[in-house]
Amino acid sequence: MKNFKRLLVTAALPYANGYLHLGHIAGAYLPADIFVRYKKLIGEDIIFICGSDEHGTAIEISAMKEKVTPQEIIDRFHFDNKEAFNRLGIRFDIYSRTSNEIHHKTSQEFFLNLYEKGLLVQKSEKQLYSEKDRRYLADRFVEGTCPVCGYEEARGDQCEKCGSNLSPLELKNPKSKISGDTPVVKESVNFFFPLEKFQNELQQWMSGKTDWKANVKNYCEGWFKTGLKDRAISRDLDWGIKIPVDGQEGKVIYVWFEAPIGYISATKELFIERNQPEKWKDYWCDKETRLIHFIGKDNIIFHAIVFPAMLMAHGEFILPDNVPANEFLNLEGGKLSKSKGHGALVRDIVKEFDPDLIRYTLGTNLPENKDSDFSWDDFQAKNNNELAAILGNFVNRTVVFAMNKFGGKIPARRTTEPAKELSSEPDIFKFVREHSIIIADCYENFRFRDAINETMNVARAANKYFNDSEPWKIIKTDEKKCEGIINDCLELCHALAILISPVLPFTSERILKILGTDSKGIAWNKSGTYCLKAGAELGENEILFPQIETLAETPAETEKKDLSLSETPDNLIVIDDFKKVFLRTAKVTESSRVEKSKKLLKLKVKTGGNVKQIIAGIAEHYSPEEILGRTVIIVDNLKPAKLMGMESQGMLLAAKKDGKLRIITTDGEFEDGGEVS
Ligand code: MF3
Ligand code: ZN
Repeated sequence: MKNFKRLLVTAALPYANGYLHLGHIAGAYLPADIFVRYKKLIGEDIIFICGSDEHGTAIEISAMKEKVTPQEIIDRFHFDNKEAFNRLGIRFDIYSRTSNEIHHKTSQEFFLNLYEKGLLVQKSEKQLYSEKDRRYLADRFVEGTCPVCGYEEARGDQCEKCGSNLSPLELKNPKSKISGDTPVVKESVNFFFPLEKFQNELQQWMSGKTDWKANVKNYCEGWFKTGLKDRAISRDLDWGIKIPVDGQEGKVIYVWFEAPIGYISATKELFIERNQPEKWKDYWCDKETRLIHFIGKDNIIFHAIVFPAMLMAHGEFILPDNVPANEFLNLEGGKLSKSKGHGALVRDIVKEFDPDLIRYTLGTNLPENKDSDFSWDDFQAKNNNELAAILGNFVNRTVVFAMNKFGGKIPARRTTEPAKELSSEPDIFKFVREHSIIIADCYENFRFRDAINETMNVARAANKYFNDSEPWKIIKTDEKKCEGIINDCLELCHALAILISPVLPFTSERILKILGTDSKGIAWNKSGTYCLKAGAELGENEILFPQIETLAETPAETEKKDLSLSETPDNLIVIDDFKKVFLRTAKVTESSRVEKSKKLLKLKVKTGGNVKQIIAGIAEHYSPEEILGRTVIIVDNLKPAKLMGMESQGMLLAAKKDGKLRIITTDGEFEDGGEVS
């Protein structure tokens, strides 16, 4: 890879229109923060940029709904989200906002730069206009009937019922969401960014990006294949950044055009704060800076295609070197949608759980290559079985030993004299140093889950060293040797504090404090070397990860946990999904053909006291007589459905054998009405 002088890391600017939830954190912010912390530890020059995305229709609509100003909305979410990041230990160098004046100015300059080069195309388009509201209605200000599925409250940009992408002009019976007025079609002239023109240059550029994640490249290739289209970059809205061209009253810059420019504005702001107002240029205009955008997958097109094209068009800025986007995190089997959060809001969760436990649980479950699953039980399992049992345990047993046997002081380092059998360091130190290289390689390649697992392997090895060395026995025969062992173990605690600090920054600080030291002067390459001073006082011991008690754990729940720990293929279900299906044994008491149907048999089945009618598609494989009297297994809680005008109240289980369907029977084994699980 090319050698860079400095790094500029950005994380997608969250909309100041909703609270952050775990899906956001796993998508972009946690990996970004871990990466930045790691890079800082190896001593690279790096800045980490984020802020609130504060324009756009969604914010205007929220304000309208709540009957408050957009400013009130963005203030609420900006400060709340900023605090949520802070509580989670996500440490930006700046968390700015796109409503800041410097951003308005920077975006307008950017727009003008392209405008003056004659790059922006003006096109007239049909748009809905409300006479009553006296404005053009942006997509999301229109509601109407979906032309695809007939849903009556479809939005102008999308039908939430059937998922179709729509344009407001396609809606039947369109209504203004502002006043309920029926809008008319009118021509409106908007600016377009000529994305189509940049397709070749973009493809050329991306073909050199051999180290990009496959999921990101795949998305991009898809878009290239379809062919890039020019994109409207002005909107008929009040709330936003005014178009800096005469005769454009009532229009603002499209939010997706200006928001990524927010990365530039925020960098300027950062260096103004640092009294180096020109220094932002080092980060944005010097080819020796490496720009990396952390985002979730829904943002890929903007960061890997549109924004790079804008930067190419502008010409004075560097392009992203990488865009390591993540997929989505599912919570308890359901999608964590962007706008909602299913109760998985960071602001709530940080009140209940140690931020490092949240970071660890998400970190080991990051949707790096495909969507991943997360469940509440994960918190307990990760805390008790991993953090407490492995890492917490090692630190605690070491420190307790030192407290009890060596008066709370760091005992003397192992010595080769006179205990000749000791080498100058135990083998595990070398193992730690080798692992620090392996882990570093994971971080460099955005493989955070692997990095965390490898880090825990170091903690496992440390426990093994403690066990194998048997200090509790040695102390009885050779106190000097025992001192050496515990000194080694304390050094291993120190090494672990370094290696885990990108992921568990709070825990790292706590371990260092227990060891009587702090994070000043720690560096990645010090792990696996002697850093502590023999004779120095240890700090106060504390339990790093107190046990989280069970919410009445059943074997089924344990199993469910095991399933959700690993990144599961999309077609796996959790035990709860299976539990929703009621299976029962049933006896077939009546059986006849369905007139005019080759496939269907009409059955009556008895499950205990109940009789149900089932229309089963087995007539090509069974005659009515063959199935009469058999004990079969049915899905008992299937929603009734009509087949050829008859109600079917269940379903038979069957399997294919040599192309023939065979029903699953329990003949002679079970009574009808038995529960199958
Ligand atoms: N607000 C957008 C979202 O949450 C992300 C904007 S990223 C930026 O999906 F680059 F445009 F700022
Ligand atoms: Zn629809």
